[in-house]
Amino acid sequence: MQRRLGVGLTLGTTLLWLFVAVVTALIVEDTLNKTLDSVLEEAAQRLLSLAVVEIFNREDSDLLQQVAALHPHEEYITYLVRGMDGAPLLVSHDIDLSVFPETPQTGLRSTATHRLYGISAVSDTFFIEVAEPLASRRQAKWQTIGMLFLPLAGLIPLSLIGIWWFVRRSLRGVLEYRTMLEVRGAGDLSPVRGENLPAEIVPIGEAVNQLLERLRRTLEAERSFTANSAHELRTPLAATLAQVQRLRREAPDGPIQDRTERIEASLRELSRLSEKLMQLAKAESGGLLVESPENILPIVTHLVDDFQRATETPLMLSLPNEACVMSSIDPDVLAILLRNLIENALKHGQKDRPVEVCVLGNGLLRVINAGPVVPVEDLNRLTDRFQRANTPAAGSGLGLAIAHAIAVGAGATLTLASPASGRVDGFEASLRLPH
Ligand SMILES: Nc1ncnc2c1ncn2[C@@H]1O[C@H](COP(=O)(O)OP(=O)(O)O)[C@@H](O)[C@H]1O
Ligand SMILES: [Mg+2]
Repeated sequence: MQRRLGVGLTLGTTLLWLFVAVVTALIVEDTLNKTLDSVLEEAAQRLLSLAVVEIFNREDSDLLQQVAALHPHEEYITYLVRGMDGAPLLVSHDIDLSVFPETPQTGLRSTATHRLYGISAVSDTFFIEVAEPLASRRQAKWQTIGMLFLPLAGLIPLSLIGIWWFVRRSLRGVLEYRTMLEVRGAGDLSPVRGENLPAEIVPIGEAVNQLLERLRRTLEAERSFTANSAHELRTPLAATLAQVQRLRREAPDGPIQDRTERIEASLRELSRLSEKLMQLAKAESGGLLVESPENILPIVTHLVDDFQRATETPLMLSLPNEACVMSSIDPDVLAILLRNLIENALKHGQKDRPVEVCVLGNGLLRVINAGPVVPVEDLNRLTDRFQRANTPAAGSGLGLAIAHAIAVGAGATLTLASPASGRVDGFEASLRLPH
């Protein structure tokens, strides 16, 4: 907007100036020509009457006479008086005869170099022609045009700077508003304070705030519903599970035993799902950052140890040389995220090949496992809720959605790749923590 206004207004002013300059130059040229022509005529008429008297008073009136200069000076207007036969009788002192055409002519006319005026007297017996060089007229014209165009050289940069400054000043409120919108995180739905907004933009600011408020309420309602339902399910699920476990212990071997086992497995799956729903609600609730950054290495080490105790698949942890990697992401939330990534690697990866968990000093976390390649078109949608690729393992399809929501809320980036970088197979989830 600033650039468009600056360029547009400058271009407009320049064109207007050019137009005015051209018109002024034309008017000045016309007036100058008229004035100088009338001076020329006046001079010719005055000179002719003097010349006729002078020639009549001469003894030998057929001889050419050159008027002597009173003071040495450069002649601007030269004149030539001819007799009836066209022979020159009287000329000015500095004359160049080649300036005058062969045949005299009354009235005004122009040659390539001079402006001429001719007039006759005493019934065409005497004829005078006065010549003025055109060069001086041209010079006057170009000087006028030059003087009119000179201000343009200053006008263009000055107007650009002036307009830029003025527009910037007037748009200060809008620019502040833009910066406020830019710096806020994706999860920040609090109202934007646009105090210095121009009156025309204030309604837009209000509409944005209303929209944010509605969005915030809708999201909150959805989240609290998810969290509450998952929470409410927890106790009855745990109670039912306990009952079923008791039933299985008491039931005799046979079909009833098998059936209770299956019911128990389904109940476990259900409680895992409700656990995931609670995690998702937390991940999407915002406030995923803590005031003072904390070292993430102990969390990673602890998690890897935890998983290693529960699985046969070897977990390989590689830590950076630095003693600590600081991040302001909430440690609990980071643990949920990593848990989901490592759980996926163990669950969907090839069981007899190790899972690598790798932390780099610059805050890059990678979880890599072996296994069949996941097609690219699947990779892009896996971070949506309830989306799963072709895998024999059981699951809800919420793990990567939780990880993605946490990454977005904490200002981190989660990238999925398959095959894993530097390999021909496998899966890699990498998380770049914000500094
Ligand atoms: N480490 C991994 N290796 C191979 N495939 C994976 C891996 N992690 C996730 N996936 C694929 O992405 C899908 C979605 O993962 P997720 O959201 O955690 O759901 P779930 O694990 O419950 O299936 C999985 O079903 C699986 O197909
Ligand atoms: Mg999962």
